[in-house]
Amino acid sequence: MTGGGLVGGSASLIGGDPGIGKSTLLLQAVAGLAKDARCVYISGEEAIDQVRLRATRLGVEKSSVSLASATNVGDIMATLDVDDPPDVVVIDSIQTMYVTAFDSAPGSVGQVRASAQELIRLAKRRNIAILFVGHVTKDGVIAGPRVLEHMVDTVIYFEGERGHHFRILRAVKNRFGPTDEIGVFEMTGKGLMEVKNPSALFLADRQGDVSGAVVFAGVEGSRPVLVEMQALVAPSPMGTPRRAVVGWDSGRLSMILAVLEARAGVSFSGKEVYLNVAGGLRVSEPAADLAAAAALMSAETGQALPRDMVVFGEIGLSGEVRPVSQMDARLKEASKLGFNRALTPRHRGKSKPGGVALTELSEIVELLGIFDGDSQGAAVESGTPPQRARIAGG
Ligand code: TYD
Ligand code: MG
Repeated sequence: MTGGGLVGGSASLIGGDPGIGKSTLLLQAVAGLAKDARCVYISGEEAIDQVRLRATRLGVEKSSVSLASATNVGDIMATLDVDDPPDVVVIDSIQTMYVTAFDSAPGSVGQVRASAQELIRLAKRRNIAILFVGHVTKDGVIAGPRVLEHMVDTVIYFEGERGHHFRILRAVKNRFGPTDEIGVFEMTGKGLMEVKNPSALFLADRQGDVSGAVVFAGVEGSRPVLVEMQALVAPSPMGTPRRAVVGWDSGRLSMILAVLEARAGVSFSGKEVYLNVAGGLRVSEPAADLAAAAALMSAETGQALPRDMVVFGEIGLSGEVRPVSQMDARLKEASKLGFNRALTPRHRGKSKPGGVALTELSEIVELLGIFDGDSQGAAVESGTPPQRARIAGG
């Protein structure tokens, strides 16, 4: 996530909703790092006994991490500003810290900024890698201090949906490595476990050939991730029918609906439209456009795509289906998980990674040929090109 390791003298911010698992993650991380580095974990939220209890629950109570409970930055500085400082310091959380020079309350913008400033200066002077935990407010902003994002070298968010066990770590700023990299974890009774194969996790609860459900072959950071996109289309009694999106961008949904109407003649007016990325992942790639469009068409026509098919491709306003990056990586991941077919943009070159049969589209209108009223589900036959597309390898 950090691009190969923690850099001495650097500051990182790990943001996330309260209860998402930030303390758990960092305690496990320093317990792991403690084999090679001197680590200090300072909690401003829990007493040392509570932290110990948690460490025991996580099975890391034997690690050589120094634990402390403190909120006064002056005290922390006095302890750490020494000739043999630790290598890694965790401050959990920056919102509980205060410097006595200010009389505003901990958590206020002034206190958070002043505390972070002091601690970052210490980190630079003593070559410490410092990690700040920051709670995020409901609207997704690190509480109070957006300023903090500008002060640190690396900003990492820890995300997850309520009711789901998996958590995603996502770098959004990284002075020392790539951003958009993700780490996927599962919250278990014994803390966070790394999920080596996220696609399998996201597709775990997948049902059979259900209309409205489409598997999107996405890429998060450098890793391909398959995830199911589900659409529901229902008649609406309302003058302004509802459109609701979970895990995707609602502006993007409006665009796809408009393009389907203008370029393919499929109207969703007077209908409620729901789109959900199953499992709670948040997808931001334009490559999901075609998967969303296919899910909508599938929901609208009641025809399912073949169960072994993945979909990806960007859609432009004129209705063109555009190539996306890392097509081979997407197809390889699909093949690895047993998918034999893919609905994709036109693919230059003849290679078919993993032997996946491609159905290539250049215009969104060609989707009509796939959902063409065949009672067998999405069309396998019938085609008068270029208006109609056929699923290859069927
Ligand atoms: P926590 O790390 O305290 O969240 P944060 O620091 O982001 O506020 O994690 C809180 C939740 O994680 C809490 O609801 C209990 C759950 N949890 C587990 O499911 N398993 C575990 O081993 C631990 C330590 C916590
Ligand atoms: Mg915590």
